[in-house]
Amino acid sequence: TPRVFSGIQPTNHLQLGNYLGAVKRFVDMQDSGIETLYCIVDLHAITVWQDPADLTRATRELAAGYLASGLDPKKSILFNQARVPAHAQMAWLFNCVARMGWLNRMTQFKDKAGKNREAASTGLFAYPNLMAADILVYHATQVPVGEDQKQHLELTRDIAMKFNNDYGVEFFPITEPVIEGAATRVMSLRDGSKKMSKSDPSDMSRINLTDDADTIARKIRKAKTDPEPLPESAEGLAERPEARNLVNIYAGLADISVDAVMADHGGKTFSEFKPALAELAVAKLSPITGEMSRLMQDPAEIDRILADGAARADEIAKPILKRAYEIVGLLT
Ligand code: TYM
Repeated sequence: TPRVFSGIQPTNHLQLGNYLGAVKRFVDMQDSGIETLYCIVDLHAITVWQDPADLTRATRELAAGYLASGLDPKKSILFNQARVPAHAQMAWLFNCVARMGWLNRMTQFKDKAGKNREAASTGLFAYPNLMAADILVYHATQVPVGEDQKQHLELTRDIAMKFNNDYGVEFFPITEPVIEGAATRVMSLRDGSKKMSKSDPSDMSRINLTDDADTIARKIRKAKTDPEPLPESAEGLAERPEARNLVNIYAGLADISVDAVMADHGGKTFSEFKPALAELAVAKLSPITGEMSRLMQDPAEIDRILADGAARADEIAKPILKRAYEIVGLLT
């Protein structure tokens, strides 16, 4: 049976890249008739230092972001990872399946560990094994993510294949990444060669889902561009990363193709296009921001939704974990 799983780390505020590359796709898939699980991956967050009070707040805020964006706890299973112990248990099996060499090649580890690898936590190194466990402990078949998660999903497939092969079983499915839409890689508003990120030191580089309308408009007005007007068609965007990024953002927010954006806006100057983009962004994001802050006033209700989701997730995960233990020869 097909099943969708994805997750987001509760670190800092949700930014536009998370929204267009992930959350909005989660909402689309929720209505596809397939079972959907959307997780807040708090155990992944602590692979780098998190202030405990901030982590708790960010977990609730991300839950509020899920709900405000249209995820419905009646249709999707919404929960935080720490509440379902099977993730960490399955991850241990995968620590024993994945090879050091595989993990050494992970670009996210290299980026996050930086120059001083000796000082990185071992959790950061084993991060992709926990991610594979998140997915495979539900036998999930489809994983909606942004482009930056592609390598991790390839590793998930490698782990599934090696486990199946080592034990001579066809137990884990080979998961499909779902990397779709105009905005699978939203770039920084200050530098078209860097992806938009929750952790960029410059707040002007990103739009946060907590930004008010004036802030959104100002960030778009100040976004870096080249001096030329927009080209007449999408081909003309190839060598113009900043222009291409703003067009992709427009397409993602409006839910239309890049060609459709170019049909309406091709040839315009940025002093014409940016206000149109700002207006669209405010129209789409402000209701979400408002709903998030309303939800944040009732943390007990958020906690109740997450606990309920975790109980449902646990029921799916437990028998799959038990079967994996048995395959390995562990007495359970
Ligand atoms: P995280 O928390 O960094 O990002 C969450 C999701 O947002 C996407 N994303 C973007 N998409 C487009 N443009 C951007 N600039 C951009 N920035 C982030 C990410 O691709 C991701 O889909 N390892 C994952 C979390 C995770 C996970 C999982 C995902 C843990 N377990 C299991 C899927 C399945 C991460 O760090 O995402």
